[in-house]
Amino acid sequence: MYGPVIQGKLVRLRPPKPSDADVMITWFEDMEVTHFLGRRNPLNLEAQNEWLDKVARDPDSVLWVIEHDGRAVGTTGIHEIDWKYGRGTTGTLIGDKKVWGKGLARELMQLRARYAFTELPLRKLEAGYFDGNEASGRAQAAAGYKVIGRRREEVFAGGRWLDLILTEVLRSDWEKAQPKARLKKAQPPRKRP
Ligand SMILES: CC(C)(COP(=O)(O)OP(=O)(O)OC[C@H]1O[C@@H](n2cnc3c(N)ncnc32)[C@H](O)[C@@H]1OP(=O)(O)O)[C@@H](O)C(=O)NCCC(=O)NCCS
Repeated sequence: MYGPVIQGKLVRLRPPKPSDADVMITWFEDMEVTHFLGRRNPLNLEAQNEWLDKVARDPDSVLWVIEHDGRAVGTTGIHEIDWKYGRGTTGTLIGDKKVWGKGLARELMQLRARYAFTELPLRKLEAGYFDGNEASGRAQAAAGYKVIGRRREEVFAGGRWLDLILTEVLRSDWEKAQPKARLKKAQPPRKRP
């Protein structure tokens, strides 16, 4: 399925549209963009549309397009959701290099975690990043993800094998990290005696 609109300060997460496929395939043309990704080759337009269609019908995925300044600049999602145990795997691609380093990932990962823990009955988000992807690691940490392990030599890129650093954020840890004022706001007003 596709995710509903979530408005942040820097990003707007919204459901994908068929017209997004044109720009999506260009993101995979650039080996700098895909350096730290498992998939490193572009699809053709037909295959990209098939993928978008497949995800739309998948009840165990939530996919958003990331918009910045009214433009589609990437995608993010929660995939392989196990509804019985409340787990899902998150991933992000900001394909437009011009907007890297502006805090988009930092904000969107926090919005995505809030959605997973307040709008979905999820208990844990699992993720990872390849060794050297400092920006991804820092953005995940800001959203509450903790490093829990490492899979050695998982992919080959730029002439060397890269380890996959495994991360996860538990709902209970995420709740503890929320500012008290924000949690208080969500409580119903007290009755006066
Ligand atoms: C990795 C990616 C998601 C980061 O997105 P971004 O919007 O550029 O990241 P942000 O601007 O929110 O930065 C997040 C943190 O990383 C830091 N950072 C940004 N670029 C960095 C860089 N090149 N090197 C080191 N740290 C960097 C920021 O200072 C920030 O840290 P802080 O909040 O502690 O100050 C984005 O570059 C991307 O999609 N890359 C291609 C695909 C990819 O690697 N996806 C992730 C797979 S796990």
